[in-house]
Amino acid sequence: MECDVATAGNGEQALSAIRKDPPDLVLLDLQMPRMGGIEVLRALRKEGIDVPAIVITAHGSIETAVEAMKEGAYDFITKPIDANHFDIVVRKALEREGLKRELELFSEDADKRYRLIIGTSQKMKEAVETAKKAAISKATVLLLGESGTGKEVFARAIHNWSERKDQPFVAINCVGLSKELLESELFGHEKGAFTGADQQKKGKMELANGGTVFLDEIGDVSQELQTKLLRFLQEREFDRVGGVRPIRVDVRIIAATNRDLDGAVKEGHFRQDLYHRLNVVPITLAPLRERAEDIPILAHHFMDRYAKEAKKNFSEIVADALKQLCAYEWPGNVRELGNVIERAIVLGRGPRLTLQDLPSRVVASVARPSIDGRSYRDAMEYYRRELILVALERCHGNRAAAARALGLHEKYLLRLLKSLRIGS
Ligand SMILES: Nc1ncnc2c1ncn2[C@@H]1O[C@H](COP(=O)(O)OP(=O)(O)OP(=O)(O)O)[C@@H](O)[C@H]1O
Ligand SMILES: [Mg+2]
Repeated sequence: MECDVATAGNGEQALSAIRKDPPDLVLLDLQMPRMGGIEVLRALRKEGIDVPAIVITAHGSIETAVEAMKEGAYDFITKPIDANHFDIVVRKALEREGLKRELELFSEDADKRYRLIIGTSQKMKEAVETAKKAAISKATVLLLGESGTGKEVFARAIHNWSERKDQPFVAINCVGLSKELLESELFGHEKGAFTGADQQKKGKMELANGGTVFLDEIGDVSQELQTKLLRFLQEREFDRVGGVRPIRVDVRIIAATNRDLDGAVKEGHFRQDLYHRLNVVPITLAPLRERAEDIPILAHHFMDRYAKEAKKNFSEIVADALKQLCAYEWPGNVRELGNVIERAIVLGRGPRLTLQDLPSRVVASVARPSIDGRSYRDAMEYYRRELILVALERCHGNRAAAARALGLHEKYLLRLLKSLRIGS
C-alpha cells in the first residue's frame, strides 16, 4: 500500500494542515502539546471536515478511546503498536472510506446495517414493542441510552415501520456544528442571509417533507436553537435563516441523546417545555451489560456478517470466548461488540473464534459479582477460582507464569490450587 505521509508536531499544527489539504486518513495521538487529540476531533466535527481519524491511545486507557469514538473517531489502536494489526486497521479504514463514498450514492444500501434489530432479552422486546406502536402514529419519539446502544438503529426502524417509509429519512447530528451552521442545516437559508450565503439553500426539515427527521444528540443543542425547535414542534412551521415567509412541512420527529436530559432540565441547560414536546413516547435502550443474554446472539450475528464481508469461514464461537464476551462490561455497548468481533474475524484464521482472537481487555475481565443467593464465603471462593482459572488459561497452564501474572508467590498459588481443588 503506497501512501503519502505528512506529520505534525502537535494538535494545532495538525488541524491547520488538515484544513488546508484534508487527507484520506488521520492518525491521531491523544496526548499532544498545545492541543490534544479529542480537541482536534471536536474541531474537525465543528467545522464539518469529514476525514476518518484513527486514535492512538496508551495501553489501558480504553475509556478515553471510547470517548474519542463518541467524538467521531473511526477506530482506535492501543500502544505498543503491533505492525500487522496497524496495517490491517489502516487498510480497513481506507477501504471503508472508499466504499462509503460509493455507498453514499446508494443510500439504500448504506442503511442496510440498520435494518435489523437483534436481541431477545425482555428489555429489548419491550423496546421493540413500544417502537412498533409509536411507528404507526405520528407521535414524536425520544430515544435514550448510552453510546452504542442502538438509538440510530431504532430511529431508522421506526421510520421503516411507519407509513412514511417510502418518504425521506433525514438524520441531523446536532453535536459539534456551530449554532449558525446547525440552524442553516435544519431550516435552510435565503440568498444573502449571511456572508457566504450566495445561494438559497433548503434545510433538512424541508427536504424531509412527508418523511422523518432524526435529531441525533439533541441534548447538545444550544439554548437559542432550542427555542426555534420548540416553535417548530408547536406550530410545525419555521423560517429559513434570513427568510420572511414561514414554511410549513409535515415531518415526524425522532430525537436521541445519550445525555441525561431530565438532569439537564433540572440544571437549566435544557428547556423544560421542549423536553415535554420531545418526550411524548420515550424509549430507553438498556446498556448491553444489563442485557447480557443478548450478547451471544449479537456476537453470532456480527460473526456471520463480518465473515461474509471478509470472505472467511467462521462457524463457531468457542464456549470460553463466549463466556468472556458475556462477562465483559462493554462501555461502548453494541458498537464495541461489533468492533471486537470484526477485528477477531479480520485478524483470525477460523473456523473457530477463540479466546486468542479477543483483545486482552475482554479476556481479562472477570464477571461482575451477582448476588444470587450464594453466601459471601461461597461467592469469594467462586471468584477466587475464576480468577485463577483465567490466569492459568492466559498463561497456557504455566503455573509459574500465572503466579507472576497474579502477583503471587508460586508456592502460595500452588497452595490455593490445592485448596480449591484445581487441576488435581
Ligand atoms: N439491536 C441491535 N441489533 C443489531 N445491531 C445493532 C443493535 N444495536 C446496535 N447495533 C449496531 O451497533 C452500532 C451502534 O448502534 P447505533 O449507531 O444505533 O448506536 P447509538 O445509540 O446511536 O450510539 P451513539 O449514542 O454513540 O450515537 C451500529 O453499527 C448498529 O448497527
Ligand atoms: Mg447515534
